[in-house]
Amino acid sequence: MGKLKVTGPTKLSGEVIISGSKNAALPILVSTVLFKKDVTLTNVPELTDIITGIRLLNSLGMRAEFSNNEVRIQGTDDLRHIAPYELITKMRASFFVSGAIVARVGMAKIPYPGGCLIGSRPVNIHLRGLEAFGIETSVEHGFVILKTKGPLTPANFRLDFPSVGATENLMMTASLVEGKTVLKNVAREPEIIALADFLNKGGAKIKGAGSPTITITGVKELNSVKYSIIPDRIETATFVMAAATTRSDITLKNIDKTQIPDLIEVMEKTKIKHEFPQNDILKIYASKSQPVPITIKTGPYPAFSTDMQPLLMSFLTTVPVKSVITETIFENRFMHVMELNRMDANIDIEGNKAIVNGSNKKLSGAEVKSTDLRGGAALIIAALSAEGTSVIAGMQHVNRGYENIVKKFKKLGAKIEHHE
Ligand code: UD1
Repeated sequence: MGKLKVTGPTKLSGEVIISGSKNAALPILVSTVLFKKDVTLTNVPELTDIITGIRLLNSLGMRAEFSNNEVRIQGTDDLRHIAPYELITKMRASFFVSGAIVARVGMAKIPYPGGCLIGSRPVNIHLRGLEAFGIETSVEHGFVILKTKGPLTPANFRLDFPSVGATENLMMTASLVEGKTVLKNVAREPEIIALADFLNKGGAKIKGAGSPTITITGVKELNSVKYSIIPDRIETATFVMAAATTRSDITLKNIDKTQIPDLIEVMEKTKIKHEFPQNDILKIYASKSQPVPITIKTGPYPAFSTDMQPLLMSFLTTVPVKSVITETIFENRFMHVMELNRMDANIDIEGNKAIVNGSNKKLSGAEVKSTDLRGGAALIIAALSAEGTSVIAGMQHVNRGYENIVKKFKKLGAKIEHHE
């Protein structure tokens, strides 16, 4: 599973069904530690990160099982408070469980988190927020130690930056803290709304998700719930960019038009022809498009998503003459640039700006390496449009976040296969 071989240039055609969202499923999965009762999640993508999340729940004394895109979770009265190093360091989202464990059992010992190598990714906002509930925080021997002296108190907390994970962590914590918590300057991503919807379905009282202020009135216990995970907007962007880069016409099903304002803006500004026959269907007509360059900045939702940045960059290498992407969320998120340049792209980095000198000349297939999830997907997109064969190493990063990516591209007509 380590490498992929892709032969281009390809024209894609046909339909692709978008999976459930990784970034919605993971926090919802870890939030189930708040429940003593059973939870069923449907439309869960089969990904290595999800399997890590399930192993995390099991390591805490719960029983979680994955089968056919469904996760069944049995809550426990006897939740453990120590999370294993091996699981938390594999995936940053595991750390989002920290506040929920304290809300349940009054203490937690969680290794410092890991995840993609796209920046230093500290957890200071998480910790300051947890302190606002009266939780004592310290770091000892690589573990974050969280303790309480008595019942948690509701928080009135303003995040320095609208961190997605910190917003989720604090929402989970507050759900079981008696009284009214107010969180300000929170993240507004669709995944935040999904987490609030899920917890509210289980009886939590969360208001304002999707706006800059969220109010949570704590409840004693959450009830049994069944919930379907929202579509993956980043996977949606991946297939849109693949179609745009290869100038193909494809149909995406099971999307949510309301959750992709940034992608719609990019399609409009770069003149990728498209239509939404329904809220959950997107048709791309890139064979008839004459795309134009763009100047764009990543930012917290609803601004352009940092996760879409590498995907857009591959497309822009095919669009004359000059596009500029500024990355404002992660300081080290241009690792795909060197690899794209190995494929004959012409991209310069100036601080946090990537100057993409696009051209009608096809990229050329090469041996390249992905070092993070979306960077890896960007290389696949580039390889689909490049002349000749590319071998992409580091597929374990891509498998963390894409369900059946090879199968899906093959069905669209791509020449793509696993490679030893
Ligand atoms: C989530 C997504 C990830 C996406 C990111 C930004 C999941 C599982 N992952 O990651 O795909 O790229 O949002 O949209 O949902 N920061 C701090 N201190 C903190 C927390 C964050 O300085 O305590 C900084 C980070 O280093 C980063 C920025 O804030 O520079 C954004 O991070 P954050 O929104 O927290 O991202 P994640 O929740 O980790």
